[in-house]
Amino acid sequence: MSFRLQPPAPARPNRCQLFGPGSNTRLFEKMAASAADVINIDLEDSVAPSDKDVARQNTIEAINTVDWGKKYLSVRINGLDSPFWYRDVVDLLEQASDRLDQIMIPKVGCAADIYAVDALVTSIEAAKGRKKPISFEVIIESAAGISHVEEIAAASPRLQAISLGAADFAASMGMSTTGIGGTQENYYMLHEGQRHWSDPWHWAQTAIVAACRTHGILPVDGPFGDFSDDEGFRAQARRSATLGMVGKWAIHPKQIALSNEVFTPSDEAVNEAREILQAMEEAKARGEGATTYKGRLVDIASIKQAEVIVKQAEMIASQ
Ligand code: COA
Ligand code: MG
Repeated sequence: MSFRLQPPAPARPNRCQLFGPGSNTRLFEKMAASAADVINIDLEDSVAPSDKDVARQNTIEAINTVDWGKKYLSVRINGLDSPFWYRDVVDLLEQASDRLDQIMIPKVGCAADIYAVDALVTSIEAAKGRKKPISFEVIIESAAGISHVEEIAAASPRLQAISLGAADFAASMGMSTTGIGGTQENYYMLHEGQRHWSDPWHWAQTAIVAACRTHGILPVDGPFGDFSDDEGFRAQARRSATLGMVGKWAIHPKQIALSNEVFTPSDEAVNEAREILQAMEEAKARGEGATTYKGRLVDIASIKQAEVIVKQAEMIASQ
């Protein structure tokens, strides 16, 4: 490890973030009763411009009146290029109760975007005597966002999570796709006449994970648009989990159980991790730094890998 230690990410489950438009009040109770760890009420792209004011008021009322249980409660505000975002922040911070945990800032392109929202939030919190500081999550969904992801991850102590927003990202990058996440028909390698589909989101995901892990932030995979394709969702989510992401969005309730399934370490994985830790304890007692487990090398790095899985399982079990 570098002399500068890697800070831990917030120890709260973030396996599934369920979205619903702030304009659709019928969904709020259902969202609160769901099995998602995080709720994101949306004021941005799922709300028509003519509905922005009413969606904002619905959202504030829902924060203050619905029983959200233990859920981490977040509201996605409008982008900093819009005429709506300042009113979102002012009204939420002035009128929503302390039950509001987080604000999600979409389409961030540089650290100054977060600085601007932080300045406004900090001022309102002081003026109103709000006791609980609001945390931030942001979406990387543009060429500028991915280019500046490391400075974005370092932008504010309020920042707890960063998601990849595949659809806006693809549009900003000029990618020739219309699908939201998942396999893309034309992204393949050819080997002896056989097509092998690769993952066009891999680089952006890995860049986000690296920036997040450097700064102690939760990396999250964003939406998977085709909510009738369970296996497609699973495949995308499993790749994200393998790369170090802790969870994924649900844009339909069908996707919640899938996300929880993928991002909760299986009993099998946890048992194996515990056995590796045990094998390394025994190796250490023999004065060895490396040993064999099921025919494979395990060493001091394996302890850290196994601890990631065990800690994740313990944190989820303790909720
Ligand atoms: N949260 C909680 N419950 C939801 C829900 C959500 N996001 N979306 C749908 N439901 C409920 C429906 O109300 C319905 O409940 P019922 O059985 O009691 O009638 C049930 O789940 C089945 O819904 P379904 O008919 O399949 O979907 P729909 O046509 O009502 O809605 C969408 C489809 C995509 C419009 C809706 O899921 C939605 O608004 N998703 C979130 C979009 C969003 O927030 N986007 C921004 C982030 S990308
Ligand atoms: Mg978007």
